[in-house]
Amino acid sequence: MSAELLNTARKAARAGADVLRSMWNQKLTVENKAKFDFVTQADKASEKAVLKVITDNHPDHRILAEESAHEKPRDADQGVLWIVDPLDGTNNFIHHIPHISVSVAACRDGRPVAGVVLDVTRDEEFYALAGKGAWLNDRPIKVTDCAQKEKSVLLTGFPFRVKSKLDDYLALFKTLFLEVSGMRRAGSAALDLAYVAAGRAEGFWEIGLEPWDVAAGMLLVEEAGGKVTDFSGRDRALWNREMVAANQPLHSWLQENCNRFLVS
Ligand code: IPD
Ligand code: CA
Ligand code: CA
Repeated sequence: MSAELLNTARKAARAGADVLRSMWNQKLTVENKAKFDFVTQADKASEKAVLKVITDNHPDHRILAEESAHEKPRDADQGVLWIVDPLDGTNNFIHHIPHISVSVAACRDGRPVAGVVLDVTRDEEFYALAGKGAWLNDRPIKVTDCAQKEKSVLLTGFPFRVKSKLDDYLALFKTLFLEVSGMRRAGSAALDLAYVAAGRAEGFWEIGLEPWDVAAGMLLVEEAGGKVTDFSGRDRALWNREMVAANQPLHSWLQENCNRFLVS
């Protein structure tokens, strides 16, 4: 059953990515959802294409998709719930920075069981199935086993929706930056998580996340052998708007620092 969900997720992500590629050179109308938070016709058109594939294949399943249904369903922990980000990296898309993705996950009883993060411009498809593993373009992927902070690269997102936390975020950034070999802010949380899963970076943290940013990516990291928690170290990061995802040796160090600076 989960394998069937993964097939649908892969088809749905591809349908969204096709739409985004076709709109890459179009002049877009950019609307504000909130200050510093944008939506375009591309987000909406991609979402329509993704949802069509899901509803054609599973007409009875519930869907939480960024541009059409923001509320956490009351019984989100029961049965199948699809979680969709039709364009992760909207600000990159608007600025023609070719680092964007479509993220599609199927959750069962509150946990992601199948997930895809599709890099739209590089055609890198990261996908995972609970209990079976994670792949990049059909090759199995694993997190790194690097335990040396000074050799590690961390990925993050800036807290542009929670600027009240900026000073604490910068204090954390400084502490980590002094210890690691590199930090990156690329603009797609879903791809950040996929990169940790693929061993391209050792860890990721961000505050102010939504479930559609992370549902597929967290499964990728877990299935690639990494660890995903909220800043307090709890297992339930999907709905908590904060996430630490890392390889096994560095997770607790990163999580404890996030906790120290960002949990009040
Ligand atoms: C955003 C991206 C970004 C992250 C933000 C997300 P969007 O998603 O993932 O990297 O820093 O927290 O909201 O708005 O482009 O779908
Ligand atoms: Ca997103
Ligand atoms: Ca989005």
